[in-house]
Amino acid sequence: MCGIVGYTGTQNAAPVLLEGLKKLEYRGYDSAGIAVLNDGRISISKVTGRIAGLAEKTEDGRLLPGVTGIGHTRWATHGAPTEPNAHPHTSNDGRFAVVHNGIIENYMELREELTRKGYHFESETDTEVVVHLVEMYYQDNLKQAVMRTAARLRGSYALGIICADEPEKIFAVREASPLILGVGIGENYFASDVTALVAHTRNAIYLEDGEFAELTPDSITVFDCTGHIIQKRVSRITWDIQAAEKGGYDHFMLKEIMEQPRAVKATMAPRIKGSEIVLDGVDIDLKQINKIMITACGSAYYAGCAAKYAIEKLCRVPVITELASELRYSDPLIDEHTLLIVLSQSGETADTIAAMRECQRRGAKTLAIVNVVGSTIAKIADWCLYTWAGPEIAVATTKGYTTQLTVLYLFALYAAKKVETVDDSTWRKLLSALKALPKQIQQALDMNPGISQLAKKYHSTCSMFFIGRNTDYAVALEGALKMKEISYIHAESYAAGELKHGTIALICEGQPVIALCCNDSVSEKTMSNIVEVKARGAEVLAVAFRDNARIVSLADDMLYIPKIDPLFSAAVEIVPLQILAYHVAKENGCDIDKPKNLAKSVTVE
Ligand code: AGP
Repeated sequence: MCGIVGYTGTQNAAPVLLEGLKKLEYRGYDSAGIAVLNDGRISISKVTGRIAGLAEKTEDGRLLPGVTGIGHTRWATHGAPTEPNAHPHTSNDGRFAVVHNGIIENYMELREELTRKGYHFESETDTEVVVHLVEMYYQDNLKQAVMRTAARLRGSYALGIICADEPEKIFAVREASPLILGVGIGENYFASDVTALVAHTRNAIYLEDGEFAELTPDSITVFDCTGHIIQKRVSRITWDIQAAEKGGYDHFMLKEIMEQPRAVKATMAPRIKGSEIVLDGVDIDLKQINKIMITACGSAYYAGCAAKYAIEKLCRVPVITELASELRYSDPLIDEHTLLIVLSQSGETADTIAAMRECQRRGAKTLAIVNVVGSTIAKIADWCLYTWAGPEIAVATTKGYTTQLTVLYLFALYAAKKVETVDDSTWRKLLSALKALPKQIQQALDMNPGISQLAKKYHSTCSMFFIGRNTDYAVALEGALKMKEISYIHAESYAAGELKHGTIALICEGQPVIALCCNDSVSEKTMSNIVEVKARGAEVLAVAFRDNARIVSLADDMLYIPKIDPLFSAAVEIVPLQILAYHVAKENGCDIDKPKNLAKSVTVE
């Protein structure tokens, strides 16, 4: 995710900013920039690529003298990773500069308004509206302009703002994006996380949502959103740098698991406008589509398998899921009435790209759902919907998968409205169910301590079965993959009804079976399968809703998830399985973030 830093003091700001940005590199980025205030003017330097390039361009900061500045590492969301899109962004009169971490959800409306008022835009970013708003509201008082600007913004933002007319001051604003102030002596700082601060100070002030701060070399004043001063406690940073990079978690995977409520919300919220779903730039003539094919690899493919049920049920159009590595060498029945949905976190998976090109050659329209902005798949698709999960560092995908599901669910509801296959009241009910996902994922995350205890019971097994039917089966596929890739335990996902056709022969005394039982339409049937495996000695850990009274008497261990429409349940149901895989792998001393033999992005066949 993007990172921001700010400095005001007596040293040259640029080297301090460059060093701070280097510390934020681990968060992932594709461009960077700094702005430094000197002699009543703001100088900017930006690069695409590495901080090392920015250091070279500015001769380690020497070309930008001045003691006040802000800096940014950008991980592209709105607009490709180019220099014009890199931060800091400046106002048309050059007197203001802004860096931003987060997403401004209402930037389109603001951009239209500002354009009407004569402001011109140099970038495609959501951020640029902020700096023009500050310029518009500025009347010799930066604090007032910042406050009025923040009141216009919807979404998540950590902002750093400087003004050529108010030297030595930096403003920091926080709403739903991390922002920490570093308290020094004769110099002060802000940063997205403590890694960029600890080299200078271990005294920190944690801003809360809706608060903003004015920093000068000798003072830090924090305000609430109405401009009243609030007293804040100075805390002591005790983390070491490595722990800080992982947000205090032991592994990136756990950090990314825990980020899911925020990532799902960031992906969903800007696309729900009142009671409408708006998929920017997507103008597929859905009435001309008679078949949807979903292709991807690994977890992305399993996200497609889970969402197939929602799309078919809501849009009444056949959905075929096909592994990209198979599709590319098949002779698929595809034409211009086929919509190919391509899923990829990285946007660079070789098999997925090849399958996509093959289908495009046969006339299919392509919609990509991708996390990395400007990646190959995003570029070659007819339409692209980005997941706004932020960079995923652990090899095993977690927030990548749940945000892919989120976009697919949004698409299912969007398409159902377009092709008029769902009545209004059902549609509205489903939209509310979708909006509840971040909260329900959080509730599932709250089971973490209990699951770590269960892992102590199950970690020493050499094989596991994951069973379920319908949507539960799709979740079983991903649950088993998570377990395999990070714990190296053989894990097999099975459609529960298929057990009796062969696999049940493998069930013996003590065999762990993870039974997914969250789809009411088939849960009775899955429970019969639980009885069958229990009769052969299996140890059953069931995932179900709390109102399923019967399953408690069948299973040995229970994980309850909040009640949710089965069409969308995969996004919540997978969470305890991600956590289970994590703790089992941890118990077994595995290299969780970098499992053996695996790469984050599979760019070869
Ligand atoms: C999942 O945890 C894996 N690392 C892997 O299956 C991954 O989902 C697959 O390689 C596809 O990657 P992509 O989403 O970047 O295309």
